[in-house]
Amino acid sequence: MSAPPKTVLTASPQEEAAIREAVRTVDPLTLGEGRVIAGAQHAPGLTRLLEDPAVSGPIYDLPRPITEANVAIWIAECARQQAAGEGVLILSLDPQGEVAGYSKFSVWPDRSSAEIAGATRADLQGRGQGGPGAARSFGWMFEVLGVRLIGLTAALDNVRSAKVIEAAGFVSMGEREVVRPDGTVRRSLYWEMTREAWELRHRL
Ligand SMILES: CC(C)(COP(=O)(O)OP(=O)(O)OC[C@H]1O[C@@H](n2cnc3c(N)ncnc32)[C@H](O)[C@@H]1OP(=O)(O)O)[C@@H](O)C(=O)NCCC(=O)NCCS
Repeated sequence: MSAPPKTVLTASPQEEAAIREAVRTVDPLTLGEGRVIAGAQHAPGLTRLLEDPAVSGPIYDLPRPITEANVAIWIAECARQQAAGEGVLILSLDPQGEVAGYSKFSVWPDRSSAEIAGATRADLQGRGQGGPGAARSFGWMFEVLGVRLIGLTAALDNVRSAKVIEAAGFVSMGEREVVRPDGTVRRSLYWEMTREAWELRHRL
């Protein structure tokens, strides 16, 4: 299950309400072309994406086993989270309408904090799009969702993710244990970035 960042921020009631509203009403196209909010109709396509261990293997907070029924339950749970302003599941569709990637944003509005987990389809991995895509998502979380802190985890051996995260300027904060939906624990690398640091790095 997604865990909020190690660093604890406290949002004012106004900030918390603004983040919840941003999450509830977000336009997925502001994240990029071909982006849609996941709905029940995407369960077969998202299952096809996630069935590939090259896509889902490194990710701790996916429903397991990956079956269409479990993916449909997860999509419904993400919709419930979005209605509460606490998360959103955004898919990227290729020109044929197939699911080519996903981004799951978990948001803690009372802590002005968020996390992202995601993956791209295996045939689109390793083409140098990871860095720019991740940077766009991080900026979007700060600017569109309005959070002040992002915490990220990656499996200890996920070299590509670590490169992408550190290239974006996230600060390594050692390791942490994350809990999979089945209750088992995975040790992970852990990073954080504040909005202030992001703005200094990307706008000046
Ligand atoms: C993680 C992921 C989104 C990265 O996207 P990508 O398009 O594959 O990434 P890139 O091709 O831009 O590669 C990212 C970096 O890793 C490097 N890299 C790629 N393959 C590598 C390998 N096998 N070993 C070491 N480094 C590698 C690239 O050179 C690049 O580093 P650079 O920018 O310094 O050159 C994608 O690989 C993916 O979906 N993986 C499966 C799911 C996953 O791990 N999600 C993240 C969970 S935290």
